[in-house]
Order: sequence, then C-alpha cells, then structure tokens
Amino acid sequence: MAERKKITLPDLFKKMNDGVPITMITCYDYAMAYLVEKAGIDMVLTGDSLGMTMLGYEGTLPVTMDDMMRHTAAVRRGSPPSWLIGDMPYMSYQPSDETAVRNAGRFMAETGCDSVKLEGGRQMASRVKAIADAGIPVMGHLGLTPQSVSALGGFKVQGKGAEQAARIVEDAKILEEAGAFSILFEMIPDRVQKLITERAHIPIISLGSGPHAHGQLLIFHDMFGLYPRFTPKMAKVFGKAGEVILDGLKQYVAEVQEHQFPQPENWFGIKDDQLAELEKLVASE
Ligand code: KIV
Repeated sequence: MAERKKITLPDLFKKMNDGVPITMITCYDYAMAYLVEKAGIDMVLTGDSLGMTMLGYEGTLPVTMDDMMRHTAAVRRGSPPSWLIGDMPYMSYQPSDETAVRNAGRFMAETGCDSVKLEGGRQMASRVKAIADAGIPVMGHLGLTPQSVSALGGFKVQGKGAEQAARIVEDAKILEEAGAFSILFEMIPDRVQKLITERAHIPIISLGSGPHAHGQLLIFHDMFGLYPRFTPKMAKVFGKAGEVILDGLKQYVAEVQEHQFPQPENWFGIKDDQLAELEKLVASE
C-alpha cells in the first residue's frame, strides 16, 4: 500500500472549512497504529488513558512523561502520516508555563508527534499560550477532564446546567484566543457542543458530545471490546476483538494440552546428516 500524504494543520482546517468530518482515535502502540494508518484516520491521540487501557491503573494520574514518550514514539512509528497528538500527563504542565513548554518540547523532540494536548479551561490559558508561542501546536480539552475527575465529582456529563455550560462556552473562546489549534470536548450535551462549534474558528472534536462538531474521537479499546472493566455509553463497539482474541487463546490452550499444536509447519528441522553428526558430537562429550 502506498504511504498516504502527511496530514498537516492546513489539511485539518480545510476539512473544517469544507464541512468534511475529521476522524480521530486514541492509539497506544505500534501494532494498533499500523491498523489505524491503514484505515486512513486523520488525527491520532496517544492519550494518557493508556494508564487504564494499557497499564491497568484505575485512572490516568499515575501516568508519567516516560510512559507517554515510549507509547507516543511507538505510535509514530506505526503511523508516520497521521496528525499525532501526545497527551500531556498529570503534573507535566500544571505547575508552570515553563514546565509545560519543556515537556511539550520533549514530546515533539523525542516522539516525533505533531502536537500536544492538555486539559483545562481559563486556568490553563497561559500554558496554552506559552506552548503555542514556542511553536508547538496545542489542543485544548474541555468538559469532562479525567485528570481533574476528583474535583469534578466523578466521570459525569459536564455542562448540563446553563451556568456550567456558559463557563465551558467561555473557556472554549479563551483557549482559542490563547492559541489552541483545536479543542476536544468530552461528555458535554449535544446542543452545548453545537453552540460552541458554531462560534469556533478552529476544529472542534467531540468525544461523547454529539454530532455537532468538526470531528469525532473514540477510545480504541472501547471500540473493540478490549477494556475489561466497562464500556462507556458514548462508545460504539465496532468489532468484538476482545472476544476474537479470547476465543483464540482458549483454542491455543486446548491445542497445546491435546498435542495439536505445534504442527510441522510451526517448527524448524535439521538435515539428517547434520543430526547424525550432532549426535556423534554430543555422545563423545
Ligand atoms: O487520554 C485520553 O485518551 C483522552 C481522551 C479521553 C480524550 O484524553
């Protein structure tokens, strides 16, 4: 398959302006990225959700910059052309603008990603500005922001009431003015999303926030039944890969136990003369 053309920021803005939906997915390793690339996905997020999906933590807070570096670089190797976003983990940007710029720079230099993402509204505007001023495209993340789940009172829809929704609308404007190239909205009501998309001049991406956005994001593991703890309402299961893998594993166990695996096509032989010589060699030892 010929490698597709590299997705650039102007390509994403063109899609937005032409009303062509932008596709986005999370992705955490080389093998997944290879498939994502074959499917022609526009934007790929190596999310700190890997703390849950790949590392088995309860949430995203234990994820480190080193975790993110390793996984984001692997995704880059599997999908060079997509627009790759490295997700800034907990406390890699919250302490100060300088910390944020240094860690965003580390993402770009060490993983080859195209941009970074951070969570938060007006309180993170100076971080967004500092990163954008350093020449690094930065995506905002509003609505349900998992790194603040404790302060938000759990994994629940944000902006259901008018006042909270108005704050999210204002935050979107503030992040856009601070220099975000795009904003992701997680779990806000569809008509709040619509209002925001209508006012925005940058690509707006929805995760569980309805159809009125320039693009959609889903979590890879939710789409393919690969996360054992739960599948959120916002996810659609596009294939039961988890079941396929489990069936294969059960069959493997059975075949090994019943001496059905391996078969000659699964092993390597040695020529008769070499074996005879080997037997002599080991006999004389
Ligand atoms: O880490 C992640 O995958 C994310 C999505 C939930 C947006 O930030």
